[in-house]
Amino acid sequence: MTDTMYPTAVEFGSLDEIRQTAMGVLPADVADFLEGGAGAERTLLANREAFRRWTIAPEPMSGVSGPDTATTLLGIPLAVPLLSAPFGGDAMFHPDGHRAVARAAAATGVVDIAPEAGSFSYADVRASAPASARIAQLHPFVGAAAVADRIADAGYDALCVTVDCPIGGFRTRNMRNRFSPDLAPFSGNVPTTVDDGPRVADVMGQLMSGGGSAWDWDDLASAACGFPLPWIAKGVLSPTAAGRALDAGAAGVVVSNHGGRQVDPAPASLAALPGVRAAVGPDVPVLVDSGFRSGADVFLALALGADAVILGRSVVYGLAAGGEAGVRRVFELMTEELRVLMTLAGADTVADITSDRLVEVTP
Ligand SMILES: Cc1cc2nc3c(=O)[nH]c(=O)nc-3n(C[C@H](O)[C@H](O)[C@H](O)COP(=O)(O)O)c2cc1C
Repeated sequence: MTDTMYPTAVEFGSLDEIRQTAMGVLPADVADFLEGGAGAERTLLANREAFRRWTIAPEPMSGVSGPDTATTLLGIPLAVPLLSAPFGGDAMFHPDGHRAVARAAAATGVVDIAPEAGSFSYADVRASAPASARIAQLHPFVGAAAVADRIADAGYDALCVTVDCPIGGFRTRNMRNRFSPDLAPFSGNVPTTVDDGPRVADVMGQLMSGGGSAWDWDDLASAACGFPLPWIAKGVLSPTAAGRALDAGAAGVVVSNHGGRQVDPAPASLAALPGVRAAVGPDVPVLVDSGFRSGADVFLALALGADAVILGRSVVYGLAAGGEAGVRRVFELMTEELRVLMTLAGADTVADITSDRLVEVTP
């Protein structure tokens, strides 16, 4: 399979078109693995519904032209407040997997988060785009400190620790399809034995099959003492969990319900965001993901307190539809819509995107 099999990715006019193309090339069970959520998929739906509560107040004659979308996160510069989510099994969607995502991210000033359960090693992803792929994700599980060392050796700047996946969610579509994705990192990311005990090479296989991780915040705090890089905790939905993460040493949090793939029903990420921001104060980096499909969605999250937004399925659609060029197109479309909305709403910079630019829809 090569890129030449795909439609010309630069011509995609919308994310919807990209998604349709992706659905046309993916086998049905892989498409279900991608699209599906846990349980009755109420969280999946709630993530999208939450955006309908808010509208953007136009600002006529604002004088803004050419707004600046740049920002920084943990000292890392971003051309636009977007990151690409860690998603495992990436070669199922395109043979270049996260290497293509990292290259597309580098070309557009987006930061990629390389997954532990990915199809390529942290080092491979990093090397495919030396100027990007600066964050890597891992699971809080026996051997986490050794994995963190590998990530640092590979040249990353920060860690993303997934705290909402001690076991895989009850993924209904996969069960119906008898589909068990091969999430074993065939990459060598994961040492099989480390100083603090055995770490099963197929860490995700173990988590997904119900073996699970029994770590609590104290275990994570102990391991994190040895982390050579700053880390953010991905998967908090409450002020309490955010506080525990910061107490454990996290430099920031990701408000996330894992794209509706874990607890069902769970709160929508966008709905949980303002409470988390209020609890941690203005200076702690707060990211958000789950359900983001447009530049308008990104604008709303920034206005409700996020510093940046992580894109999951949106990126996978681009990857499946057109490899690196498809992912680049997704980032370009999101960035362009955000830029247009900043202009129309009178926001010169990302910091100008505040809640007073929103109007709540009355039910
Ligand atoms: C196919 C797929 C695989 C994923 N694998 C992981 C993973 O290995 N680790 C992780 O922390 N999150 C994983 N996620 C969750 C994403 O990082 C992210 O939280 C989620 O996709 C955001 O929601 P969205 O897809 O609606 O944008 C995965 C998501 C998808 C769609």
